[in-house]
Amino acid sequence: MSIPQKEKERIENLFEQIKSSFNQAENEKKLYDFKVKFLGKKSPLSIARKKIKDYPIEKRPAWGEFFNKIFEDLDHFYLKKQKELSQKSLDQKIEKEAMDLSLPGPYCIAGAKHPITRVIESIIKIFTPLGYSIQTGPYVESDWYNFSALNFPPFHPSRDLQDTFYIGENHVLRTHTSPVQIRTLQSQKAPLAVLAPGAVFRADSDVSHSPMFHQIEGLYVNKKVSLAELKGTLSYFLKHLFQSSKMKVRFRPSFFPFTEPSAEYDISCPFCFKGCSVCKKSTWIEIGGCGLVHPEVFRFVDWDSTKWQGFAFGLGIERLAILLFNIPDIRLFFENDIRFLNQFSSLG
Ligand code: DAH
Repeated sequence: MSIPQKEKERIENLFEQIKSSFNQAENEKKLYDFKVKFLGKKSPLSIARKKIKDYPIEKRPAWGEFFNKIFEDLDHFYLKKQKELSQKSLDQKIEKEAMDLSLPGPYCIAGAKHPITRVIESIIKIFTPLGYSIQTGPYVESDWYNFSALNFPPFHPSRDLQDTFYIGENHVLRTHTSPVQIRTLQSQKAPLAVLAPGAVFRADSDVSHSPMFHQIEGLYVNKKVSLAELKGTLSYFLKHLFQSSKMKVRFRPSFFPFTEPSAEYDISCPFCFKGCSVCKKSTWIEIGGCGLVHPEVFRFVDWDSTKWQGFAFGLGIERLAILLFNIPDIRLFFENDIRFLNQFSSLG
């Protein structure tokens, strides 16, 4: 073969250089860039091949064969390398996306019910099997529903501006859930048994008072209703709520304009037998107010008080929650501090 040794060596050197560049390509993109650079139309190798046509005709076949072999080998080498790199990138991808089933799951904070919601739900759960249904009323009440129809005399101290948030002259933010008694008597027929949970508002704020808090109201109306039934119902309810069959309930005579007779009811302290800081050494803890529906209340809603009797009771939810969960400050319920709320998330 009559190929000049020098030129042959130069091309062979180029061939080795290209091969080693292909070999060094770390990914398919780089490899392709090298291919364009070293085997493209303007590459030194292609330019050298084009020169064949300037060679004497009898030398051209040998040069052609030589270059074909070089290009064929490089092509071959390129494809081999490309396959290798493509497999490598696939392996890397698989490795990256592989799931390690032994890893812990992503951390996510589960929402939890607010302690006040929990207490309300527990109370509803106790009363539902006794036939009580849920009744609601608006937060903004007329003076008539909040006071007059509940037999509050016009100048009763509860109407004092200090306790009541007035909205205009005739409306208030309800100061208690008792107006739902009136709304129930207006919308239902006896016999009836309702529970009315919800927010109430009073201009008062300290460790044990919040301007917004929650109450639950109970109302039962039937042909004959006794104080003994009221006491039995409250005892049943409180024993279940505190999960204590030994718990005692006592009535103390009291006054509410909408009940006659009226009482405040206490429970025996669930934390001690002989006096502690929770019951202030008295062994009793005050829970709420109750009584038999005042005939005047029936009269306000045009019910015949000679035909119907009823009992009613009310209590503050936060007070109960404080006792049930041993919480030192009522304001904790409304600050929405996640560290406080999280402590209830395990209760299910
Ligand atoms: N509404 C009263 C209050 O907020 C509580 C209450 C007392 C409700 C006696 C009643 C009841 O139903 O009979 O202080």
